Amino acid sequence: MKKIKNIHLVAAARPNFMKVAPLWKALAGESWCRPHIVHTGQHYDANMSDDFFRDLGLPRPHFHLGIGSGSHAQQTGRTMMAYETLLLETSPDLVVVAGDVNATVAAALAAVKLGVKVAHLEAGLRSFDRTMPEEINRVVTDALADLLWTPSPDADANLAREGVHGRVERVGNIMIDSLEMMRPRIEAADLPGRLGLEPGAYGVVTLHRPANVDRPDTLGLIMEVLSGLARRLPLAFPVHPRTRARLAEAGRWESLQEQPGLHIMEPLGYISFMSLLWRSRLAITDSGGIQEETTYLGIPCLTLRPSTERPITISQGSNRLCRPEELAALAETALAGGIAAAGPIELWDGRTAERVVESALAFWAA
Ligand code: UD1
Repeated sequence: MKKIKNIHLVAAARPNFMKVAPLWKALAGESWCRPHIVHTGQHYDANMSDDFFRDLGLPRPHFHLGIGSGSHAQQTGRTMMAYETLLLETSPDLVVVAGDVNATVAAALAAVKLGVKVAHLEAGLRSFDRTMPEEINRVVTDALADLLWTPSPDADANLAREGVHGRVERVGNIMIDSLEMMRPRIEAADLPGRLGLEPGAYGVVTLHRPANVDRPDTLGLIMEVLSGLARRLPLAFPVHPRTRARLAEAGRWESLQEQPGLHIMEPLGYISFMSLLWRSRLAITDSGGIQEETTYLGIPCLTLRPSTERPITISQGSNRLCRPEELAALAETALAGGIAAAGPIELWDGRTAERVVESALAFWAA
């Protein structure tokens, strides 16, 4: 291999940052390539973006597209246009996109149309629910990518069934790399102590999916159940900006602050959030990543969604899908010890970034 390869790592929104960080670190130590971080700007608040860069030891983005919020078409279209300009100016050899946010598909589409190779990190996950914007982003990105890095055998099977044209390699779950990379700082942070929460005796809640927070009746029902549960098990609830806006619109924001046992707070950075999750008794969420992190940590997780693109967290992990009406009963089951992980998952071992680097190198050699 003659020329040093220029690699773009595209990061856009909160769940991308912890996937890109271990890979940035691994690639930055290699002499055959030069990684550059491209922040599209989908998430822009300090506590949704800058705090994660700082916590995860990421450098300032080399390029920032400043896309911001908007409808799906606006976000996707603006990202494609801005990124196309950057691609033409910088001619990278490989574009790495991660996860399933709007920027993932937008950057992949802009790149392949210019003949630039694309690798998808966290490829092959499927919820089979096309009402989820992320499912569309996953299916389209995988159809376009030249190199598909998967976290689990179910993802390999999905891609085989779809007959994708790219090369598929199972590398494991890169979120576990971030967790292990940051473990000493996470353990030292002791957020529960600072909040007056007793280790192993509180729950953590996160919610941001449109299906849960954009419908006032669903949001209301979830808040009622959480308020009831918080009287028995203190709940720490860092509130996503979308959810905060919907709670304010529904006139629930002020009263929620006064619910006994409910600790309402601003979104947390990576270290603080993981410190909170690590010592918790139970997680209630609609996030993708938290389903995986709780499985790795062996913490029961109730996922407020009808489906998951991460079925291995149910078959082998401590995750259970849950409708809002079932939440109170399933929380009791979890607290009684009725939800446990079956054991460690293969390749969720903190060494995924290493395997990705090997795979990228082999890709050029092929
Ligand atoms: C996006 C991803 C979702 C991911 C989530 C993690 C898509 C389709 N969705 O959803 O997969 O799980 O990120 O958070 O890409 N906002 C702010 N400040 C910010 C970012 C957003 O105030 O820094 C507010 C804006 O009002 C914005 C709304 O939150 O309109 C939603 O943000 P957006 O990025 O569109 O979607 P998320 O719900 O965050």
